[in-house]
Amino acid sequence: MRMKRGEEQKQTYNQQHNIMDIQLTIDKAFGFVPSSAIAGYKGQVSKAQEMLTKGTGAGNDFLGWLSLPKDIQSQLPDLQATAAKLRKECEVIVCIGIGGSYLGAKAVIDALSNSFAWLNGQKPQIVYAGQNIGEDYLYELQELLKGKRFGIICISKSGTTTEPALAFRLLKTQLEQQQGKASAKELIVCITDKARGALRTLATKEGYKTFVIEDNIGGRFSVLSPVGLLPIACAGFDIEQLVKGAERMQEVCGSETEFENNPAAQYAAARNALYQSGKKTELLVNFHPKLHYIAEWWKQLYGESEGKDHKGIFPASVDFTTDLHSMGQYIQDGERHLFETVISVSEPDHKVLFPHDEENLDGLNFLAGKRVDEVNKMAELGTMLAHVDGGVPNLKITMPKLNEYYLGELIYFFERACGISGYLLGVNPFNQPGVEAYKKNMFALLDKPGYEAESKAIKARL
Ligand code: PA5
Repeated sequence: MRMKRGEEQKQTYNQQHNIMDIQLTIDKAFGFVPSSAIAGYKGQVSKAQEMLTKGTGAGNDFLGWLSLPKDIQSQLPDLQATAAKLRKECEVIVCIGIGGSYLGAKAVIDALSNSFAWLNGQKPQIVYAGQNIGEDYLYELQELLKGKRFGIICISKSGTTTEPALAFRLLKTQLEQQQGKASAKELIVCITDKARGALRTLATKEGYKTFVIEDNIGGRFSVLSPVGLLPIACAGFDIEQLVKGAERMQEVCGSETEFENNPAAQYAAARNALYQSGKKTELLVNFHPKLHYIAEWWKQLYGESEGKDHKGIFPASVDFTTDLHSMGQYIQDGERHLFETVISVSEPDHKVLFPHDEENLDGLNFLAGKRVDEVNKMAELGTMLAHVDGGVPNLKITMPKLNEYYLGELIYFFERACGISGYLLGVNPFNQPGVEAYKKNMFALLDKPGYEAESKAIKARL
């Protein structure tokens, strides 16, 4: 359709250049919640959007992520230069961090990496620490790093989290033993608060290169800050494109885009309507094994943002078709409290065709000449139809390709929808009071100084 002059001017860069965006489809939820119920969220969503943009809602001191795609751009050259230096110097780079301080980076790196990167000699290898307290994990990591030139990126906003602090002490000691203190210093980068916390004190004292996590950005919303961007750049991926994709979604999901065309608004409304209808568990589904950690990142984003005040959708995930052979039975036929959100990737990077076989002993000649992805897509379509028939509503996010740009779009889309969704639910999406309970008990059990009364009380319970 030809457009009038004014309309042409209004076209975005992407429309002018025919660049697709990620798309959300919600019509396979309408058999469970009528489209009118979702449309009925328009007013509430508009209020939630206003709470985000005007900063009038709970947690309004943690809204720095909203404008990160623009705000981070001045730091990209420093991040790229730091990554280039680590890439040149290191065989292995260890990213230390937990929760929001590692999941976003791992999600993007895994989504973009060769599936066998750890075997194909790629340098530097990116490995992770501080995301658990497994003694065998840390032993095996130390063994792996013996005799290798490795670097460390230590990420902790508070600078006091136990898991990364333990890993950093162990690996920093090893690096200094292997390289000498002066050389080790050049291979360590810390990302933390600008002034507070033990990691800031340590980094200043030792003279490490640092990047700052701004006060107004919570861990799970920090992937587009140095927290995510430095490791992603170290893995060799294009952080400019990632940020560009996010910037695009900032425009598409902003409050200026009307409810009907706003994917973040539609997703927040649809999942909230499903939740109110009794669908209390959302499964994030992929048909692309590289997206496994995107789901892990998403689970933290939604679980930690919404699971409070005894409310919230339980975010879970499955990898298909793998899990169709395990969890598929429950999803098809178990208790009906589920809905699915499928991330579908339109075009894989590579082409693999099934060969013809004269003998056809495996009976697969009907697939000869077809792409593997065609089979995968039919599995996706068949599963969606079966699950909808079985009582599982289906939302779908389509990514044209798995690349930095579309991952940037996906990240910002999910973050924006999460902010809206949390406000629709009536919770503060930006705090996480619940994660403190286990820490208090752990410190009491470990006799941490300052926890004497708690130690006594907890030990009396054992
Ligand atoms: O989202 C969050 O706030 C948490 O997951 C934190 O990122 C996680 O607990 C790590 O905290 P820190 O970066 O302070 O070490």
